[in-house]
Amino acid sequence: MDSIIVLDFGGQYAHLIANRIRRLKVFSEIAEPNSETEKLKHAKGIILSGGPASVYEKDVPEFNNEILHLGIPILGICYGHQLTVHKLGGVVEKGERQEYGIANLKRLKKSALLEGLNSSEQVWMSHADTVKKLPEGFETIASTPNCKNALIENNEKKIFGLQFHPEVVHTVNGMRILDNFLKACDCKKEWSMKNYVTEKVQEIRQNVGSKKVFLLASGGVDSTVCLALLNKALGNERVKALHIDNGLMRKDESLKVMQALQKLGFENLQVFDASEYFLEKLKGIINPEEKRKIIGTAFIEVQKQVLERMGLNDEEWLLGQGTIYPDTIETGRTKHSAVIKTHHNRVEIIQKMIEEGKVIEPLNLLYKDEVREIGKELGLPEEIVWRHPFPGPGLGVRILCSEGSEEQVESKVKEKVQEIASSTGFESCVLSLKSVGVQGDHRTYKHPAVLNGIADWKQLEKASTSITNEVQEINRVIWLVAGEVEEKTQKATLTTERIQALQEADAIVEKNLREFGLYERVWQFPVVLAPLDINGKEAVILRPVDSTEAMTASFSKLPLEFVQKTAKEIMQTGKFGAVLYDVTHKPPGTIEWE
Ligand code: XMP
Repeated sequence: MDSIIVLDFGGQYAHLIANRIRRLKVFSEIAEPNSETEKLKHAKGIILSGGPASVYEKDVPEFNNEILHLGIPILGICYGHQLTVHKLGGVVEKGERQEYGIANLKRLKKSALLEGLNSSEQVWMSHADTVKKLPEGFETIASTPNCKNALIENNEKKIFGLQFHPEVVHTVNGMRILDNFLKACDCKKEWSMKNYVTEKVQEIRQNVGSKKVFLLASGGVDSTVCLALLNKALGNERVKALHIDNGLMRKDESLKVMQALQKLGFENLQVFDASEYFLEKLKGIINPEEKRKIIGTAFIEVQKQVLERMGLNDEEWLLGQGTIYPDTIETGRTKHSAVIKTHHNRVEIIQKMIEEGKVIEPLNLLYKDEVREIGKELGLPEEIVWRHPFPGPGLGVRILCSEGSEEQVESKVKEKVQEIASSTGFESCVLSLKSVGVQGDHRTYKHPAVLNGIADWKQLEKASTSITNEVQEINRVIWLVAGEVEEKTQKATLTTERIQALQEADAIVEKNLREFGLYERVWQFPVVLAPLDINGKEAVILRPVDSTEAMTASFSKLPLEFVQKTAKEIMQTGKFGAVLYDVTHKPPGTIEWE
């Protein structure tokens, strides 16, 4: 089969590039940037991914320079583009300002890569460094207002460089650009998901051997697809599924999960209520990374307890998990990637079990959209395949905790935010609380800005993009829908009372989403509890997003009637001081708050 190799420089989207190429029906594999030439020669094309490094840093990933001289077509993306230029004699310069988000690409010259595209196209950027001078034989094909060399090529050698990311959905015709690259590589389209399932089934049988699998099943898309795949490969008798109720699920969710899985005909299922165990472990914990690690470890501790109670021999059972690729990359577990956050299924205790060969994760190289395709291929019903993703640590991360004494924001930051807010018709303030974000392949932890004013998505988007691009200290922008907002933060930890309060708000959101027929339109809808101090009451933040695989996302512009009704009902519970709506894309924000 013709294949494209993606060299992984640690960028958050490196594997997403491989996912996109597979979607275009060409097999794609990942390799290290210092792979030996012999191992790469069979490729029809090589893509150099983005990455957190800058070409002039000391600790950059080692790179096999020969790759650029094999006569195989090359596509450099972001860091990969800068590296190609740097290695071939051009100049890369530290960008004067970082650029995250949407930009307008204008074509200056014809190029095979832009075949079938408009002369002006929306593309998506996430970088600080830029290419200043091209190597010999290269020319500038297209530019954006902030980046002259946004698309460059050496037509004769078929080497292309893109500063923007064609692999993310926000580059509207990105797939077309990648498809044009495949044409330039003369690739045959021979890859399909059906083949993948057949291969995986064989692989599972081989890897499991004579053992059995004990799967942790949250009831979400990934673990349910994983359960179906394991059952297909090994049969019902050799697969047991355990749903652990960690007390951090949505309202009545564990019960619903069990009913749904039973309805699908899976046997050997059981639920274990470990809510008290989890809450005890999480008592008084503030730091979100610490919470994640505790939750991930507790899952394994409980699984071991259950195994023991059932009298099962640990040696005969492998741990099954529905881990998907973003869980690994975001936990910084690939060679050159930075830690964005520790996923519950990537904590130390599990890493150790993986090294010992005690874990099976058949979906671990895939993204959510591919997992859904496998689900369809295996005949799972739509309501399972299209369930909104829900993180393993559940409400445990969506309930923000605080010492109540978050760092004060400098007045010059507030003034700068207000300047941009005023120019777009809003009042603003900046919260002392911090929230997590992701910018240019790194995790950030910064203050959110609040906008108060007209309900106009376009204006809110404009203000949000300007504020997060121009004010370094801000990574999120939220809009006040109901109630009033205070900048100060109160002391808050994880308590049953707070969990129940958030479950109530979350249930209102889900009810209204279904009533308005919006459930399928939204990709995911975290509802977050933020410990602002509004006369002693906290705030609820609504975070609906549109995405395909969670690596990037746009905030959803939902009908205002839905937003107002939902906010009103949440306020009517009497438990909250404000309802806010997150108007930040990912990046610079993440989907979850924590
Ligand atoms: P962020 O917040 O980084 O999240 O934009 C990306 C996607 O990952 C989900 N998520 C998790 N899923 N275990 C999971 O199984 C985790 O620990 C975890 N943390 C975040 C999140 O809900 C979103 O879909």
